[in-house]
Amino acid sequence: MTLTPDLRSPQPADTPISSDLLPSVLEELHTQHQSLRSGKIADYIPELAKANPDWFSICVTTVDGQQFAVGDAEQRFTIQSISKVFVYGLALEDHGRDRVLAKVGVEPTGDAFNAIVLDEQSKRPYNPMVNAGAIATTSLIKGHGATDRLNRMLAMFERYVGHEPYLDMPTFMSERTTGHRNRAMAHLMLNFGMIDEKIDEALDLYFQQCSLLVDCRDLSVMAATLANRGVNPLTNVQAVSACYVRDILSVMYTCGMYNFAGEWAYKVGLPAKSGVSGGIIVVVPDRMGIAVFSPLLDARGNSWRGVKVCEELSQRFGLHLFECAPPDSRCNHSD
Ligand code: DON
Repeated sequence: MTLTPDLRSPQPADTPISSDLLPSVLEELHTQHQSLRSGKIADYIPELAKANPDWFSICVTTVDGQQFAVGDAEQRFTIQSISKVFVYGLALEDHGRDRVLAKVGVEPTGDAFNAIVLDEQSKRPYNPMVNAGAIATTSLIKGHGATDRLNRMLAMFERYVGHEPYLDMPTFMSERTTGHRNRAMAHLMLNFGMIDEKIDEALDLYFQQCSLLVDCRDLSVMAATLANRGVNPLTNVQAVSACYVRDILSVMYTCGMYNFAGEWAYKVGLPAKSGVSGGIIVVVPDRMGIAVFSPLLDARGNSWRGVKVCEELSQRFGLHLFECAPPDSRCNHSD
């Protein structure tokens, strides 16, 4: 008997997402949540405070390159913390798993994303999805000087979005002038030898990555690239080596939604990442990338409408990675 080398279980045939059904479900979820005004817009810098609370979009890109979008799919905004996912991938490519793991852990924190805290024993930041970990990850990006590092990072983002990437200068300048907590974290990590002394370069690169301009459609393509083993399904460009996709998705699954990560894993059951500008990306491995954009945030800093929409999508299509019940015997969260 020969064993097939691909041991991943196939997706259950009983949960198809037909391209006929998906657009109407996206429309329905958009209409259902558009009028709800819970949450608060991030206002720590003026560029984010200017966001319109009505902006709302849901986009899906499948691994075979189909796209479905509702709402403000072309409204541009800064990617903020969602960038952490992709820069982590670049650091893994630059240094390999062991060296990155020596500098940044993979443990969820249960703390807020901007907590000034390092692991007591190892002095590492807990994971690459919180600010301290992201600054450490960013400090690992290779390059001959600041411009080369920025260009390598932009080239990486270009592979994911499939077009030339732009940074929002006013956001970068505001992040840079107000980022005192991030500066404090960088100094703490320097003190423990977790990052090198080029602190200002690392922080600038971190503020620049947060200032990348994207729209909801871009985010769905970025998520779909991770769902498609690192290959952008629209351009067929390998954005990140397939061997690191499992590392990226693992930390997204356990740490991507900050101190809501456990509840998210329990309810939605998919790797995801949020940002303070109101984006959420969700990866359905081997199937699709989902992105939601709505700048009203809940108390943990996750898009309020985004969380609701993703909970519903996961439930309706049985997307939870550990769902094994056939559609007619699945339990709702209210059951
Ligand atoms: O470092 C900061 O504070 C921001 N530029 C990034 C924040 C962010 O998106 C965290 N997210 N929820």
